[in-house]
Amino acid sequence: MAAPRAWHDRGVTLQDSPFLRACRRLPVDRTPVWYMRQAGRSLPEYRRVRADVPMLEACARPDMIVEITMQPVRRHGVDAAIYFSDIVVPLKAIGLDLDIKSGVGPVVADPVRDAEGIKRLRELEPDDVSFVTEAVGTLVGELGPTPLIGFAGAPFTLASYLIEGGPSKNHERTKALMYGEPELWDDLMRRLSVITLEFLKVQVAAGAGAVQLFDSWVGALSAEDYRASVLPHTSWIFERLGELDVPRIHFGVGTGELLSLLSEAGADVVGVDWRVPLDKAAQRVQPATALQGNLDPAALFAPWEVVAERARDVLTRGRAAEGHIFNLGHGVLPNTDPDMLTRLTEFVHEESQT
Ligand code: CP3
Repeated sequence: MAAPRAWHDRGVTLQDSPFLRACRRLPVDRTPVWYMRQAGRSLPEYRRVRADVPMLEACARPDMIVEITMQPVRRHGVDAAIYFSDIVVPLKAIGLDLDIKSGVGPVVADPVRDAEGIKRLRELEPDDVSFVTEAVGTLVGELGPTPLIGFAGAPFTLASYLIEGGPSKNHERTKALMYGEPELWDDLMRRLSVITLEFLKVQVAAGAGAVQLFDSWVGALSAEDYRASVLPHTSWIFERLGELDVPRIHFGVGTGELLSLLSEAGADVVGVDWRVPLDKAAQRVQPATALQGNLDPAALFAPWEVVAERARDVLTRGRAAEGHIFNLGHGVLPNTDPDMLTRLTEFVHEESQT
């Protein structure tokens, strides 16, 4: 059953959608809302369709991609869909031996740690990900005026998985390469930037209305190291994305100290985790930058009154930004009650209209 979408019912077009308008810092009649990881284990219908299909197989099957991407849109009535995939999909598509283990995350069979390993990172061709083109094409047809967000992992976060061989708390091997072998590091980052850009371009060419670059783990770096070793690469990606004329979102976790640099990289929208209130974040980003966020995903485990109070606070502080897209400060946690998300979506819509 489709959730009510007032602006949709009034015949609003894609470009008039609250999400795209807020990304462009245009006035909206209510704050748009979507959730990182809205498609995933919090939904029983997701667990059902994924039951017998491994994650990376699901990410390469247009029928699965379309169904899973649509699930949270149908259930919660969110203002944007996010393309169902994973940040390691383009790396798998160029032939790297990696898998996604449930409860763990991406695991790389033969980690990339030297010049030989880095040479294995060839460019991504659109044909390597023809399933993306097919799935996005079907999705934009089904979504109508609801925008589809394409996404990719940023080079630092991808490099961390490739170098460490899996999830990492301290990113020590990654930093060892970055600090100790800057030329190799730059080569790795350049290759990953080319792959990331191509993966995003394929999604936009097929109809994605916005893109989000996830640099989830870059908050592990100091501002100085970010500026020297990451910023040139993310700036390169955002500059080239600028030619595509879709809003660009940039997000990382634990990036309070990096927000101004993250914003310097050139995104139209900066995603903020729950650690920095949006009114403070608004002072840290470049002028003419919209903000996305930032309710603590763990707050959804508290009673509804607490969730509502905190969501209201996010909306209030979000008014300090030039444009605000409501979201969580990171992804939906797997045990989240999906009814909380539906209720939160309605609350944000109603509350921001008054
Ligand atoms: O709904 C959405 O947001 C779209 C789908 C999406 C997934 N991964 C699906 C997924 C998106 C945007 C991602 C991006 C992603 N993947 C990031 C950046 C976003 C973030 O959360 O910071 C990162 C760091 C990854 C790497 C990764 N893949 C992790 C950490 C995990 C979770 C491991 C676990 O099981 O807890 C994955 C697996 C993954 N990606 C799942 C989903 C739905 C779970 C797979 C399953 O059902 O078992």
